[in-house]
Amino acid sequence: MSADSGSRKPDSISDNGGANFRALLQAAVDAIIVIDEAGSILQFNPAAERIFGFSQAEVLGRNVSMLMPPHYAQAHDGYMAHYHATGERRIIGIGREVEARRRDGTVFPIELSVGQVDLPGASHYVGIIRDISARKRAEQEMRELQERLARVGRFSTMGEMAAGLAHEINQPLGAINTYAQAASRMISAGGSYDIQDMEHICRQVSEQARRAGEVIRRLRGFLRTEESGRQRLDCNSLIREIMFLAEIDAREHGVPLALALADDLPTVDGTAVEIQQVILNLIRNAVDAMSGQPDRSRGVIIATARGAEGGVECSVTDHGPGVAADIAGQIFHPFVTSKRNGLGVGLSISRTIIHAHGGKLSFVPNPAGGTIFSFHLPEAFED
Ligand SMILES: Nc1ncnc2c1ncn2[C@@H]1O[C@H](COP(=O)(O)OP(=O)(O)OP(=O)(O)O)[C@@H](O)[C@H]1O
Ligand SMILES: [Mg+2]
Repeated sequence: MSADSGSRKPDSISDNGGANFRALLQAAVDAIIVIDEAGSILQFNPAAERIFGFSQAEVLGRNVSMLMPPHYAQAHDGYMAHYHATGERRIIGIGREVEARRRDGTVFPIELSVGQVDLPGASHYVGIIRDISARKRAEQEMRELQERLARVGRFSTMGEMAAGLAHEINQPLGAINTYAQAASRMISAGGSYDIQDMEHICRQVSEQARRAGEVIRRLRGFLRTEESGRQRLDCNSLIREIMFLAEIDAREHGVPLALALADDLPTVDGTAVEIQQVILNLIRNAVDAMSGQPDRSRGVIIATARGAEGGVECSVTDHGPGVAADIAGQIFHPFVTSKRNGLGVGLSISRTIIHAHGGKLSFVPNPAGGTIFSFHLPEAFED
């Protein structure tokens, strides 16, 4: 800084200690762009040249909207006018993730923070820009990996439930066979059979075929892959939908399931099959825990409630022996299991899914004996 710096007001942003300022612009890893109140570019440092692909000479004096994709570019002059008129800050002093446009037209994600410098008679704005393409790409890859992991988990769960599912499909198939044999006997007995009896048999065959088809439809719904996008979800509906599969497992082990769902829950943002996967994992663990108990009549209770601080709380309460003390601290780690045929991945996948939805998954002992696993999901974001 020069000796007299501070003794007079700067009349240009680069005036005060000009050499230092230029050195800073040169050395900065982040792009630094200075504009005036009309949006014209006054400074464009080497990092900005590298990130945007424009040379300084090409951009100086031009409107900064040339560095934005069309939807931002159109709105930018309006934003600036709005700020000048009202003083309301949408970005200045705040910083946020937005998109920018390179010389070759490609749009990329940036972190932008904007500071205001008040000079006599005018204001300048300093934008500091970091290219976050690599970070966004890594986040996207991580998300895809998690989705794939969750999918593998669903297939593995269905593999484990194969016996129960086969039973669920075999029953109606067996019934269809019995009805068809009866009809065949009636026809081959020759002549007179009651047309109403025959009608009844046809209706039953159709109903049983529908039942078998329903198991397959639900199964395919749970294994569907196309729906990776997030949607606004009602947790109670998700639970009601997955109960069909959960019941198959619970019936096999003689454990009754009960619902205690609260009315008027807020919606949450998420991927339906993934939340359902968590609920199914928790119910299956609860059923496993109770299956060795002499008294299973108190069963497993699946409940929802409005969270104390908003959002939705979903719990699965069992009356089993509780989590074994020697593994209680590790049950959310992968491959930790106390079961002979367990993989030990249910809870770790479930926690990954809940975290990816901005929520929390934990457990506490059930005061009435057993365990309560619960997860919280934040309320859907209002747009
Ligand atoms: N409701 C519960 N009551 C008692 N122990 C539980 C309960 N839920 C989970 N655990 C314990 O946590 C361990 C890990 O559970 P997790 O769901 O991750 O794996 P798993 O059920 O053993 O196998 P997988 O889910 O992969 O088939 C279980 O083996 C069990 O010891
Ligand atoms: Mg499990």
